[in-house]
Amino acid sequence: MAKIGFDIGGTNIAAGLVSDEGVLVKKGSLPFPQDKDFEKVMATCEQLVAALEEGETEPVRSIGVAVPGSIDATASIVLNAFNLGFSNTPLKAALEERLQKPVYLINDADAAVLAEHRIGSLRGCTNAFMITIGTGLGGGFIFNGSLYRGGRGNGTEPGHLILVNGGRHCSCGNDGCAEAYCAASRLVQDGRTYGWSNAKMVIDAAKAGDPFATAIVNAFIDDIGSYLASVINLLDPERIAVGGGVSAAGEFLMRPLRENVQRKSFFTDPTEIVVATAGNDAGIYGAAFIAE
Ligand code: BGC
Repeated sequence: MAKIGFDIGGTNIAAGLVSDEGVLVKKGSLPFPQDKDFEKVMATCEQLVAALEEGETEPVRSIGVAVPGSIDATASIVLNAFNLGFSNTPLKAALEERLQKPVYLINDADAAVLAEHRIGSLRGCTNAFMITIGTGLGGGFIFNGSLYRGGRGNGTEPGHLILVNGGRHCSCGNDGCAEAYCAASRLVQDGRTYGWSNAKMVIDAAKAGDPFATAIVNAFIDDIGSYLASVINLLDPERIAVGGGVSAAGEFLMRPLRENVQRKSFFTDPTEIVVATAGNDAGIYGAAFIAE
């Protein structure tokens, strides 16, 4: 019986029907309600499930949901997902009541790590790390062949490692988090002065040789470089995958990033740093993979 994987983001809610063989059969997406009204979020999820189930002969067994925030140790409550306006939100119970199917929650970056490990760029790795560079900075790691879920079951929040003491304000309320320097939102913040309203515009301008965009992107790469060098010093991963919207910049970003990381990391043998390959559907896949 197929499962549904949800990837709930602050812009869109994406969902896909994934077969028992792990194949994404069909997918759909709807905008995340901009007023963040929880009832509307539930209704949107219900609508997506109905659309995916339409025409299917077999019922959907269960649903996995990837959320951009931290989830409690019982995997029932979203403790906080700042982009969605969720705080201590009993998402599992609410969705189970609404959809009448078992629901399993996972952090969105953890879902991406699972997908990369099973079908993408981290296949075959025993100890590996991944960052997702989107609106927020997500991350997670494979430890001894499985997703590391934290010592107390809280998972990990690598985007909120403090990179600069007392630095830029982060969406989590703290100052100086890696997310404030290494996520797409940093490019948006820095690019605004020059009239670029999204990360892609800044990167495209840098590719075209604009000196201001180049300076912004270089500073961004330098910060991600410091961050990944620290991650390497802590975990010594076999491989690092870079995912999220910004990774679409490909080698333009990756080549200088590899050099930057190598220059700063403690170990002399370079850690392999690759672009994630499960793509935009990684969250859907990972969510479906945890649904039983
Ligand atoms: C959240 C993480 C999430 C990441 C990517 C961060 O701000 O704290 O839980 O994985 O954004 O969405």
